[in-house]
This record gives sequence, C-alpha cells and structure tokens, in this order.
Amino acid sequence: MNQIKIFSPATVANVSCGFDCLGFAVNDLGDTMTFRKTPSKEIKILDIKGAELPYDINKNVASAVVIKMLEKYPADFGIEISIEKGYSPGSGLGSSAASAAGAAVALNELLNKPFTPLELTKFAMHGEKVACGSEIADNVAAAIFGGFILVQQYEPLSIVKIPVPKELMLVAIHPQVKVRTKEARDVLPKKIPLSDAVAQWANVGGLISGLYSENYDIIASSLKDIIIEPTRKHLIPYFDQVKKAAIEAGALNAGISGSGPTIFALCKGEENAKNVYKAIEDSYKEKNIDFTMVYSKINTQGVKILEKN
Ligand code: HSE
Repeated sequence: MNQIKIFSPATVANVSCGFDCLGFAVNDLGDTMTFRKTPSKEIKILDIKGAELPYDINKNVASAVVIKMLEKYPADFGIEISIEKGYSPGSGLGSSAASAAGAAVALNELLNKPFTPLELTKFAMHGEKVACGSEIADNVAAAIFGGFILVQQYEPLSIVKIPVPKELMLVAIHPQVKVRTKEARDVLPKKIPLSDAVAQWANVGGLISGLYSENYDIIASSLKDIIIEPTRKHLIPYFDQVKKAAIEAGALNAGISGSGPTIFALCKGEENAKNVYKAIEDSYKEKNIDFTMVYSKINTQGVKILEKN
C-alpha cells in the first residue's frame, strides 16, 4: 500500500457530566486526510484546505503524530500529508483530535498495523499536547474507537467503549466565536465541594447506565454538568438561551461540547432532533453572530478508511 485516504470524525468531549473522561464521535462532520509514502524519509505537509493550520511539521498536529510514531517504529519511507478540514479549529468539536486520530490510524495502516487502537490513542494524545498543551484522551479516543468512550484511567491508559442507543441523535450549534481550550481550562475551579463531586460522578454512572440500557429518561436526567459548565458558559454567547430552547423543544438535554463554543444537544429520534435543530437555529437567528449547525447520528465506527492503494 502506498497511499491511504481516511475520514476522521468530529467528536463531542465531556458530554456534560464527564469532564475529560467521556466523549463520542459524530457521523456527518470531520476531516478528510490523505497520507502518501515517498521514497525520501521526509515528512511533509503538502496541502491544507479549509483552515489555516501550520505547515511546520513539528507544529502541525497530524505530522507531529506521524513523527512520534516513526520514532517508535522507524520506516524506510517518508510521508506526504494532505488535509481537508471539514470544520473549523477552535470549535469545541475536537478539530485537533480529528487530525491527530486520523494521522495515527492512517500511518498505522501504511506500516501494516503494528499498533493497537489503545496505542494509537496514546500517539494521538501527543497531537493534543502539540495543539493545546494537555495530553487529553477524550476526543482522540472517541475518534479512534467510535461511538461513546469512557477514559476509565490515564495511568495506564484504559478506554472503555460504551454502546450507542439506536435512536440517539446529535444537534449542535457552533457560534463563530473563538474559545481556546487553554483559556477554557484556565477558568476551571481548582477545588470543588464534595457534594458537587458526588452529584457529578453519580451522573456519569447514570449516563453510562442509561447508554447501556437505552433508557432515555436516565440519559436525560444524567446529562448535567454542575462543575465545569457554570465556570465556562460565560465564554459562549447566549449559552443559556440555546440550552433552554433545546430543552423546551424536547432535547434530552444540552451542554458545552468539549471546551466550547459549540453547544450540543442529544435527542431521541430524528423527528425530535429536527425540532431541536429548528428551535436552536431560531434562538440564534437574530443575534448578529454567525453560526453553523450540525445534525448527525452518532458515529459508531470512528476513523474510516475511504481508499487505499
Ligand atoms: N475535555 C477537554 C476540555 C476537551 O473540556 O477541556 C477539550 O479538548
């Protein structure tokens, strides 16, 4: 195999109660990337479409992951990378994670699969460090494994794949404002009351139990974030209004996607998701802030191979 083209999905991290430990992949949004073997041992970014991202191979997330993997598993070829971003960086939908996860999976294929998905997640976490300074696993693991994932522990890394209820749908709005992950992490509380911690981890348990049992009532009542959301929501214009509109239109619940500014809502069934989409869209129409919307099933597959030859 000399060349591989992949689709790497956008992801929603945290999923309200699961800060830094829960995430899921999105079906209809992501990056398309091509990786080609070259005779020289050089790593090169050929082309980036759809976003302004670094061509410097140590600063670009995809090439940084490739470099890291080749340090561990040297190859007698170089790699040329072309990236088509399907959505903008800084959205809260795991843009750097899509690039990092896509690079890890694609290079693994070109190397004849020496690494497991868990090892690929670790390489992709290096990409997250290049992008935002923290080796966070929630977005990259969701992109690599697909579906819902729980980062059960970091040392040693353990990822648990959680089933996706059949009717679960995502609706999201991305207001075109910038929220840097680092800035959104700087506002986090250093200490939290024990009662808040208890409520939050009970909701993580509730959400996971609801996902396993396809119990939408438990999913809805567990999709709450009493620790992170109150400290971050001021970074997102009209967050409360969007959330209220989504819930009134019948969403299971709504919250901040990753570190924002995207606001996500989970819905039961397509009809419900269409109503929630319209309610969220209407709530933002008159606000003088550009936005894009997402309507998607949950992606259960993760990074997908589109072509290899
Ligand atoms: N879990 C991370 C956060 C996701 O909320 O900061 C951002 O990459």
